[in-house]
Amino acid sequence: MLDLYGEDRCAIKIHPEQRQTGTTGQEDMLSTNQTDRTEAAACHARLCAELHRHNRLYHVLDRPEISDAEYDRLFRELVELENAWPELTTPDSPSQKVGAAPAEKFSPVPHAVPMLSLKNVKSAEEFLDFDTSIRKNFLAREDAIDYVCEMKLDGVAVELTYKQGILTVASTRGDGSTGEDITENIRTLASVPPTLAPPFPPLLDVRGEVYIDLKDFQQLNRDQEDAGERSFANPRNAAAGSLRQLNSAVTARRSLKIFCYGTGRWQNGRHHSHLESLQQLANMGLRVNLEETVSVRGAEGVLDHYRKLLTRRDALPFEIDGMVVKVNTLDLQQELGTLSRTPRWAVAFKFPPRQEETVLEGIGLQVGRTGAITPVAHLKPVNVSGVTVSRASLHNWDEIARLDIRVGDHVVVERAGDVIPDVVKVLVERRTGTEQPIAIPTVCPECAGPVRKAETEVIPRCTNSHCPAQTIERIKHFVSRNAMDIDGLGEKQILQLIALGKVKTVADLYRLDKEDLFAMERMGEVLAEKLLQSIAQSKSRPLSRLLFGLGIRHVGIHTAKILAKRFTSLGALAQADADSLIKIHEIGGKVAESLADFFADPVQGQLLEQLREQGVNPTEEAVVQQNGLLTGKILVITGALEQMSRKEAEDLVERLGGRAAGSVSKKTDYLVAGPGAGSKLDKAQKLGVSILSEEDFLQMTQRGEDA
Ligand code: IVH
Repeated sequence: MLDLYGEDRCAIKIHPEQRQTGTTGQEDMLSTNQTDRTEAAACHARLCAELHRHNRLYHVLDRPEISDAEYDRLFRELVELENAWPELTTPDSPSQKVGAAPAEKFSPVPHAVPMLSLKNVKSAEEFLDFDTSIRKNFLAREDAIDYVCEMKLDGVAVELTYKQGILTVASTRGDGSTGEDITENIRTLASVPPTLAPPFPPLLDVRGEVYIDLKDFQQLNRDQEDAGERSFANPRNAAAGSLRQLNSAVTARRSLKIFCYGTGRWQNGRHHSHLESLQQLANMGLRVNLEETVSVRGAEGVLDHYRKLLTRRDALPFEIDGMVVKVNTLDLQQELGTLSRTPRWAVAFKFPPRQEETVLEGIGLQVGRTGAITPVAHLKPVNVSGVTVSRASLHNWDEIARLDIRVGDHVVVERAGDVIPDVVKVLVERRTGTEQPIAIPTVCPECAGPVRKAETEVIPRCTNSHCPAQTIERIKHFVSRNAMDIDGLGEKQILQLIALGKVKTVADLYRLDKEDLFAMERMGEVLAEKLLQSIAQSKSRPLSRLLFGLGIRHVGIHTAKILAKRFTSLGALAQADADSLIKIHEIGGKVAESLADFFADPVQGQLLEQLREQGVNPTEEAVVQQNGLLTGKILVITGALEQMSRKEAEDLVERLGGRAAGSVSKKTDYLVAGPGAGSKLDKAQKLGVSILSEEDFLQMTQRGEDA
């Protein structure tokens, strides 16, 4: 018998006979089991509500509360329950949908051909069953099938519609029949061509997965944390969150990529195989993962490739959660057909989850440069698909409360790529009663200083600005790669300099001389010389790096660049009032407030003064792409643009190092003229300025963006 339970364990037993046959012909048993039926209905309602909620958390809010495995389990319970009591299946049951309904803020886009999902298989046996079933039950053949194996990237499924070779609409999968309009955001991806290379069909729907490379994901999370924003739990959420931005400029910064793996409508298309159609997509300039797409013969070929791919999983630049196996011949695909949610001709051959059970042995406390005290899980070491894990991130204190995690608990940890593992679940049922709840610290674990937690915040902070842990972290941040980039000052060296009493603030770094350095371990003439040189060189870093390096709350590297570009000196920024700050694109109230706090703080004022005395007072020139495709060029944009707004076109020019001017003169290098261009076009023609159509401009800038 199978135990089914929703949120609060609504236990309901399904009899094996019922599960296999459903209710038909089981009248006797059903009438005697009327109570079971009522319980089943209640359980069904609860499971539906739970799954709807998790669908929304996952697909709409990008904030899943449970792991994929846990979701799968709930989903399977629902399907089993509906198999046993088919009359409980309602049209809006989560079992009848592929994903979640589209978010309200984006307009709906119907998919002309439904975007299906894939049935999963999790073992060689299950794959062999799939292969046998389609050969014997549906195709009535003994001989091996030609399959295509593709990587199953863990990202977001999208559809791109090209009309006459021009990208007109891009949408998410949504519930499979209707998705969300994300055209503007998709246009910011360098790997999505705005136009196709001929020959192309008059109408083409391309499907693919938008994803983020692991190194970009990690950088994004560091930037999010630096800017005081929520970090993403995994690359999939980062990709989804980045695509579903109302401001496409945000998407543009997120290094998203696409791999195309299929099609919807393909007008006048005639091919024989799936692989051939992928090759044609690549010929049109679409990004297809052809190097990793192989055609194999029969189930043996698939299993062989699966084993090979599994060994390479950790070395890939992106996260894959399995392999997609597709019947290659399109005639056979058609013969096999599709079910309501999934095709019969393809299957997702999943990799084992990177999840393991272990025990939470303790909680470590880390004090950051702003005094933030964050918890780290100390785990009984466990091997998670080849890597020993003994530390895991718990993100914040809310997470501890949400998971109700206690020292001594059995927990499930999950690893995605080489990202720090997460504790995703507490196995409450394994508690013995000896587990210890975790209290938010009331004194700093490093300096025993007072800890304060603002009501609106989830993070407790050490308020002692002389806390040694904060000092170390502040200096580490100041010298880091994206900040002042001082080589040769790692954590060890910083610790020594603090212990020797030579450094208390970042300004002290600029007062160091050779004698001071000689007091450090293993520090000879050559190393000391080099270190002093790299400290001196850092004085000429641009203002944005200093601003970032000062560790002002909510000022990540991107915000620092915007501020530096706008104010060009620290003095000017310090004078800026909140109103003028908020008016700047992408600067909000939080940043304005935190800058005001920073400049009003006498300790920081003294620090800035000391830095100035040491010659650290950089300025910033307008930040543009050095050696960009349009460096030094002046462009004027006129008329109506069809594929992007005027503002987007101007931003693009500036990103590539050019300047977007308002009027045409002899100095103008290019005029981009859309339909309806008037006097500016006449003037440009008279002056012999090169004239570009929107299409020419897009093609030209595409090259620059790819560079
Ligand atoms: S084919 C009918 N190919 O996996 C074919 N999907 O549950 C449907 N995915 O929604 C998709 N890599 O988001 C296909 N090479 C690949 C894929 C892939 C990732 C995702 C996609 C899809 C989900 C299937």
